[in-house]
Amino acid sequence: MASTVFITGCSSGIGAAAVRHFAAQGWNVAATLRQPGTARFEQGAGCVQAFALDVTDPDSVDAAVRQALARFGAIDVAINNAGYGLFGPFETATPEVVDRQMRTNVGGVFAVTRAVLPGMRERGRGVIINVASLTGLVAMPLYSLYAASKFAVVGFSQSLSHELAPLGIRVKVFTPGAVATDFSGRSLARTFEGDGGPYADSIRKAQAAFAANRGAGNAMAPEQLAQALYGAATDGSAQVLYVTGEDAQAVLKARHDLGEEALLAGMRQRFGLGG
Ligand SMILES: NC(=O)c1ccc[n+]([C@@H]2O[C@H](COP(=O)([O-])OP(=O)(O)OC[C@H]3O[C@@H](n4cnc5c(N)ncnc54)[C@H](OP(=O)(O)O)[C@@H]3O)[C@@H](O)[C@H]2O)c1
Repeated sequence: MASTVFITGCSSGIGAAAVRHFAAQGWNVAATLRQPGTARFEQGAGCVQAFALDVTDPDSVDAAVRQALARFGAIDVAINNAGYGLFGPFETATPEVVDRQMRTNVGGVFAVTRAVLPGMRERGRGVIINVASLTGLVAMPLYSLYAASKFAVVGFSQSLSHELAPLGIRVKVFTPGAVATDFSGRSLARTFEGDGGPYADSIRKAQAAFAANRGAGNAMAPEQLAQALYGAATDGSAQVLYVTGEDAQAVLKARHDLGEEALLAGMRQRFGLGG
């Protein structure tokens, strides 16, 4: 019988690429997204079915998991991929903006994990894969809230991996560097209005540095990341942390070689924020 993967955030980017990849390998795919009516998924060798799911709405999470279980019988792998970025100074972020970031990027991972766990525990197996970010290991300037959310996902995943190992459930976390999706176009909110007032200069410098980095063309294709997610879902290993992308690996190597303080100072210099 085909295995089943349950994926959040399948409307675009990494989630959509993961749907295609798992389906091409003959898996059943519960492809979840906020607006399933807009979904056009190819079936591949496996069976793809779209389900409505907003990660900030626990009822919709529970309903999607229930429907996927009814349709496919079991969930072998859950991929928490849905999320969005939040750029800008912390001081200008309203409590509502902070709350939405955390409810989506962190609360969403909690809600889906909570919903799939009973079935995995009863079967004595399962894999939960959380898509964090390199920003969950090393924080970039003006991404304090996004970094807080992704650091939380990394910490949650690492601790949960210990807790669930005796139950036969593996927890894994991806910390990709840049991936060539429209994330910074369609999924990047701001904490500020206008030019950011007292932070305008820092914002301008950071935007220029990020634009130069994007222009360097070192982003990974979403299909490559989907392949890596499939590898983690099926490698049978106890590996928890998956650092994907040459850019991410280079940053971690620099941290190892230079030390944390020198890495952070170098980053401030590169962003024109002082040494
Ligand atoms: N691209 C990168 O460089 C990069 C690097 C590291 C990590 N990541 C992480 O990778 C994940 C996917 O990003 P991506 O690059 O593929 O960008 P993307 O194409 O913009 O995908 C983001 C997905 O998250 C969904 N989403 C946002 N809020 C949601 C909610 N409340 N409920 C359900 N779904 C929601 C979006 O759905 P809608 O269409 O409904 O908005 C969309 O499907 C994110 O967690 C991101 O932080 C991306």
